[in-house]
Amino acid sequence: MSFSPEWLALREPADHAARSRELLASVGRHFAGRSEISVVDFGCGAGSNLRGTYAALPDRQRWLLVDYDRNLLVAARERLAAWADSSRADGEALHLSKGPKSLTVSFVQADLTRDLGRVLPAGTDLVTAAALFDLVSEGWIVGFVAALKQRGLPLYTVLTYDGTERWEPPHPADAAMLAAFHAHQATDKGFGPAAGPRATAIMAGAFAAAGYSIDRADSPWRLGPDFAVLARELVTGFAGAVRETGAVPESDIDTWLAARRSGVACHVGHEDLLVIPA
Ligand SMILES: C[S@@+](CC[C@H](N)C(=O)[O-])C[C@H]1O[C@@H](n2cnc3c(N)ncnc32)[C@H](O)[C@@H]1O
Repeated sequence: MSFSPEWLALREPADHAARSRELLASVGRHFAGRSEISVVDFGCGAGSNLRGTYAALPDRQRWLLVDYDRNLLVAARERLAAWADSSRADGEALHLSKGPKSLTVSFVQADLTRDLGRVLPAGTDLVTAAALFDLVSEGWIVGFVAALKQRGLPLYTVLTYDGTERWEPPHPADAAMLAAFHAHQATDKGFGPAAGPRATAIMAGAFAAAGYSIDRADSPWRLGPDFAVLARELVTGFAGAVRETGAVPESDIDTWLAARRSGVACHVGHEDLLVIPA
């Protein structure tokens, strides 16, 4: 499954506005008192999660950005260099400064369905990911939890879809469209049948059974006029996914899409999760 750099850029401001401030502050408190930290970001895309997280972490940061999409890793490198106050390339790595923080960022192309061990190097302090876990399967989560437990690693993840989608004004096809979208959510995105909106609950249960403390918080998108372009792209992608299922008549999809494109406000539910080993 691939994601365009343009789509990730469009959603970044909404993602940053949506993530739970409380949970981010809890991550910061967990690492308070340290001068440096080593972080791995799974499914990094164009680097949005680093830009949304770095301010809460210690002043000296090493980041390993992991994705299987080479184009996104290139976009991440370019966007991070443009975002930083100063940037210096050091071979494959980037040295960045941003306010009081200095960051060394490395990039690795890896497929998380196969390469999990390779992208959890010794010395890692924190694993993070944004908008990733609704793509993974329950079976993959079992192996992921075991890998983190074995290394005693915490996880901070944001923006996992929770199954809530409310549109304003309501439309007669909303319920059928949402049911079909959820059927699409459960299809294989490369990890086996996707956990979709069940992902956070599955992970919370598995980490709790592994002896971790669990902290969950809502991080909904509330898309009004400020996010009109994002909302338009969202409804287009949503309708495309519904179309692929064949579960809703084409004419209903077209009517719904035309109504939604003429102006929409929506609430899309997400959850953030912080798990810390005992
Ligand atoms: C919804 S995007 C989120 C990107 C980024 N975290 C953000 O918040 O903008 C999901 C990301 O996971 C990556 N991804 C999906 N399956 C993957 C896999 N099997 N291995 C590595 N990366 C994967 C995609 O390339 C994409 O960058």
